[in-house]
Amino acid sequence: MRDSRETFVNHAFVIGHPIKHSRSPIIHGHWLKTLDLPGSYRAIDISPDDLPAFFAGIRQGDLALVGGNVTIPHKEAALGLVDEPDDLALEIGATNTVWMSDGRLHATNTDGEGFVGNLDAQAPGWDSQVKTAVVLGAGGAARAVVQSLRDRGIRDIRILNRTVARAHDLADRFGPATSAHDLEGMTEHLSDADFLVNTTSMGMDGADVATLPMDAMKATALVTDIVYVPLMTPILRQAADRGLRTVDGLGMLLHQAVPGFARWFGKRPVVTPELRALVVADLEAHV
Ligand code: ATR
Repeated sequence: MRDSRETFVNHAFVIGHPIKHSRSPIIHGHWLKTLDLPGSYRAIDISPDDLPAFFAGIRQGDLALVGGNVTIPHKEAALGLVDEPDDLALEIGATNTVWMSDGRLHATNTDGEGFVGNLDAQAPGWDSQVKTAVVLGAGGAARAVVQSLRDRGIRDIRILNRTVARAHDLADRFGPATSAHDLEGMTEHLSDADFLVNTTSMGMDGADVATLPMDAMKATALVTDIVYVPLMTPILRQAADRGLRTVDGLGMLLHQAVPGFARWFGKRPVVTPELRALVVADLEAHV
């Protein structure tokens, strides 16, 4: 006889290439343990060439996997390999979360939910005060941010990017609530803005960043960064020095994990200070 618990043991994954620095196993492992759920979540290194075969294996049930996270460099390619991408993933053109249901592989993108979920947790009510938002950057990471700001009802989202053509691509994708600009007019745009988010790699891993015109911003403005290594990025430091409210980017990583866990393991987990401390400790151990 099989153990009745064993029948419901679910196994999930994060795939990337490379994958060994992913913090997702810490996050999901913590929730499995604290919710006392059987199951596992592990990091698997899959090269781009092996991605189609990996997804075929999931579909056929060979790997006994219920779903997982997809990260760099697979987020875009994965979307073309699933059976049922949802509207969020299709609009962004990338997926970070997949799951099996009725023999078909489904996909969504929870990065935007993670982004606004973090702001909701760290700065409750933030969205009621934001009429104009400035988004720095127009790469892959900017897409989920712009989508989630628009879907929160923000009607003036200014995308500023070094390569203005990429900002136009995003504005075309996300519609009339968005506009595209180069970095030249940053002071003017920041002076109107209630909200600034950095989605570029500027400041990542402690790299130097030019001084941004934070002085132009309203004293009530909120500044956030999706970079979380280091936690206090140069852009957040500049904002804090100016006395502006800041929210760091680690919470986005924690909150984007919630919907996937709920799908694979059947319980919606909570982002707690204890979980955050676990991930911070890991970041500090691997500086
Ligand atoms: P991701 O998927 O992480 O967003 P990406 O698609 O390579 O990565 O995008 C990186 C973003 O950071 C882009 O907006 C990039 O600007 P360009 O489109 O002009 O390349 C921006 N970026 C990177 N380094 C930058 C720098 N030193 N100054 C300004 N923007 C920078």
